[in-house]
Amino acid sequence: MPNFIAKSIKSKSYPFGRDDVKFLWEVCGRNEKLIYTQCENESFLLTLKPKQDFVVLKGEKLSKPARTSLLQKALCVYRDENANEIVSEAMAYKPTKVIKKSELITDIDKFTVEFNTLVGVYDEIFIEIGFGSGRHLLYQAKNNKNTLVIGIEVYKPSIEQVAKLAMLNDLKNIRLINTDARLLLGLINSNVIDKIFLHFPVPWDKAPHRRVVSESFALECERVLKEGGSFELRTDSKEYAEYCVSNFLNLSNSKIFLKKNENLEISSKYEDRWKRQEKDIYDMQYKCEISSPKREIKDDMKFHNSYDMVKILTNFKNETIKDSDYFVHFEDIYSSNERILIKLAFGAFARPEHCFIKIENQKCEYFAKKPLLTFENLKAHKKVQECLDICKI
Ligand SMILES: C[S@@+](CC[C@H](N)C(=O)[O-])C[C@H]1O[C@@H](n2cnc3c(N)ncnc32)[C@H](O)[C@@H]1O
Repeated sequence: MPNFIAKSIKSKSYPFGRDDVKFLWEVCGRNEKLIYTQCENESFLLTLKPKQDFVVLKGEKLSKPARTSLLQKALCVYRDENANEIVSEAMAYKPTKVIKKSELITDIDKFTVEFNTLVGVYDEIFIEIGFGSGRHLLYQAKNNKNTLVIGIEVYKPSIEQVAKLAMLNDLKNIRLINTDARLLLGLINSNVIDKIFLHFPVPWDKAPHRRVVSESFALECERVLKEGGSFELRTDSKEYAEYCVSNFLNLSNSKIFLKKNENLEISSKYEDRWKRQEKDIYDMQYKCEISSPKREIKDDMKFHNSYDMVKILTNFKNETIKDSDYFVHFEDIYSSNERILIKLAFGAFARPEHCFIKIENQKCEYFAKKPLLTFENLKAHKKVQECLDICKI
């Protein structure tokens, strides 16, 4: 993350800036200030942290722009306009190459809308979690032209590489999403998916809470799968296979099939590696035999009341509220005469959202980034609303 350290900064009145970089306002917290910045039509926050003999300026993580070059540019302008005596800096300005994003790559916040338009278009929908080099995903898309194959991967270079290979092979029935698979299933309606593949997941033997599969993941698979649909795990870890069996056996109705050392037509990079080492390969297939109740989210994540800003400031507590399937953590508060920013984490335990709430002119809204509309986030949002309502006008 680009940053610089200066002896001190001047006290300028907002707004100020140069060219297409504007610093619009600041809010003050216990240990740092946040500066609201606009640069080339994008908005984000800078963090200004005073230390004993100097100040550190850097980008704020939650609102970070997609192009680091914007952050670098804003920091350079702030340094030139407002800093006294630079002590050190790490922000060589390298304009980032603008790469045209493939039409096969979907942003997580646009996923629900695009997904709903595609549901009726294809005969079947497959999901592959953690597709890596994409051999199995491309194979499925090539051999099932009337099937939409959705690939979910946390590693961005794999997304870009597989998107290129899909275009080269003229495979348009693919959508790739750069996100945590545990988050994505929560955005999908019930009974719409035909197959979910999880091939050679990281076993996380020493940190099982990081595994893709969990009790709640099994429940989500059961919900999104059609009656007759299946979840298919392929792994070299006997322990992971047994762990999956026990999680899927917790479901009220479950039919589970197990196989050992079955050869498939397509072998992934990881599979080739384990086979060279003569490791055993395990398949676990869960077949869904029920139809789940509909779970479409109709509510929104807006705040409808007006709030007393002084009351919010005096009542704020750094606290965590937990329920069975969600939590809310009020982390920090920043303020000026005109506005308040509250930093919070909330949602499902395994996939928390981190965001700000801005209160200005007594109105409240999520700031910088809107949380995803999942059930756990919605429950957490209602709890946040309930807490803020103590200060409503
Ligand atoms: C061991 S590799 C296996 C890749 C591929 N399936 C294969 O068989 O070659 C595991 C892959 O899962 C991805 N991954 C790990 N956790 C994930 C998660 N929660 N959501 C989506 N992808 C994940 C990793 O980035 C990695 O590419």
